[in-house]
Amino acid sequence: MTTVDKKIFNSIKKDFGISIGDMRHIIKDFHSEMIKGLNGEKSSLKMIPTYVDRPTGNEKGSFIALDLGGTNFRVLGLELKGNGKMSTPRVKKYALHVKHMRGTKDELFDFISEAVKDFLISEKIKIEDTAALGFTFSFPVEQTGIASGRLLKWTKGFSAKGVVGEDVVELFNDALRKNGIGNVTVTALANDTVGTLATRSYEDPDCDVGIIIGTGTNACYPERMSNIRKWKDPQPKSNEMMINIEWGNFNKLHLTIYDKRLDGVSSNKGQQILEKMVSGMYLGEVARLVFDDLIKKRVLFNGVKVSPFRIKYGFKSEYMSIISGDRTRGLSKTARLLEGIGISGSTAEDRKLVRTVCDIVSTRAARISASAMAAVITKMDKDLSRRHTVALDGSVYEKHPGFARNMRIALDELFAGKSKRIRMVLAKDGSGKGAAVIAAVAASS
Ligand code: GLC
Repeated sequence: MTTVDKKIFNSIKKDFGISIGDMRHIIKDFHSEMIKGLNGEKSSLKMIPTYVDRPTGNEKGSFIALDLGGTNFRVLGLELKGNGKMSTPRVKKYALHVKHMRGTKDELFDFISEAVKDFLISEKIKIEDTAALGFTFSFPVEQTGIASGRLLKWTKGFSAKGVVGEDVVELFNDALRKNGIGNVTVTALANDTVGTLATRSYEDPDCDVGIIIGTGTNACYPERMSNIRKWKDPQPKSNEMMINIEWGNFNKLHLTIYDKRLDGVSSNKGQQILEKMVSGMYLGEVARLVFDDLIKKRVLFNGVKVSPFRIKYGFKSEYMSIISGDRTRGLSKTARLLEGIGISGSTAEDRKLVRTVCDIVSTRAARISASAMAAVITKMDKDLSRRHTVALDGSVYEKHPGFARNMRIALDELFAGKSKRIRMVLAKDGSGKGAAVIAAVAASS
């Protein structure tokens, strides 16, 4: 790299950096947005009451659960045995196509009710039997009860017409009836973060945060009823309730020119700002915009004219994970990947730069996630006076090399020795199982 190239690159690196001071700022702003959201004031954090408390671990029964919200749609059958024990779920995956995500409400809900029917048949559950179903629907839903809620807006590239503003449980129940399985009833509606938290806390009473860092990102936690000032309904028996933060929409963050470019041409401009800097749907695109710029400035690939980095969303977040995890000599795995997407003859120096960009973009994502997580924990327990288990799930957290480690490093910087009180655990498939747990909590309250 020439001195000029180094200068260009270092300024990008600096712009993506999140110092400990930045993390403290994020935490402070996050707290203030959380409080505003809980008061019903204007805030980038919706702070949605979920009408459900954490499970005790004693809930029992057989439940069907449905998980919609990412690239796959899954139906699960699960038995809760009490004492924090549950059966291994029977799971069937159904591929979601563009017409389901972006077509009409009928195309989407007919498809999912048909999948439920198919699942009942393959599980030999009699169609005429009644069954309670927990529905994980991972979008911003203003809940009006444990089994009802209106979709506020679509996220993560979904846009099925006729759903925003509607009660998604009603739409689903209608589709079930239309399909001849009206005896299957949705008894609980949950966000995936709530499902993840519920699954882990069924067996671990220290668990009080659920986080997803996958296609989208979000978190939930239990809040004291007295702090939910906007609550107007009758007080529930328990004095706390889980809150779906919808943290993907947090917007008190420093944006680089690349973030501004990404947001500027997105279909939800000005929204889901944190999600656009953290989640799998966007990470690759942020990196692509940096590559494109470096190519134009002739710092990378000798300024090649035709490149896949010119194409919107042409560089997937999965590629970043492969590149960040490349331990081969001369980054030959990266060379093959680049060749596969149309960049041949990259130099070792090019590849090193590509890898550094992937690391910079994903490290920023991990440090923002850690700051937001720290904010949620310190909202409940200012001085970290007790232990907290955080249940995490999602492709970025699980699969991006170093992501979890970078979150841990950030926590250590923030809390020094006390950071040990925060335990981060992977709650695999928590969102699906959790819908069954929530259905069980609903049935027992
Ligand atoms: C998006 C959705 C949110 C969900 C998250 C993770 O941010 O709006 O409801 O929890 O993705 O799937």
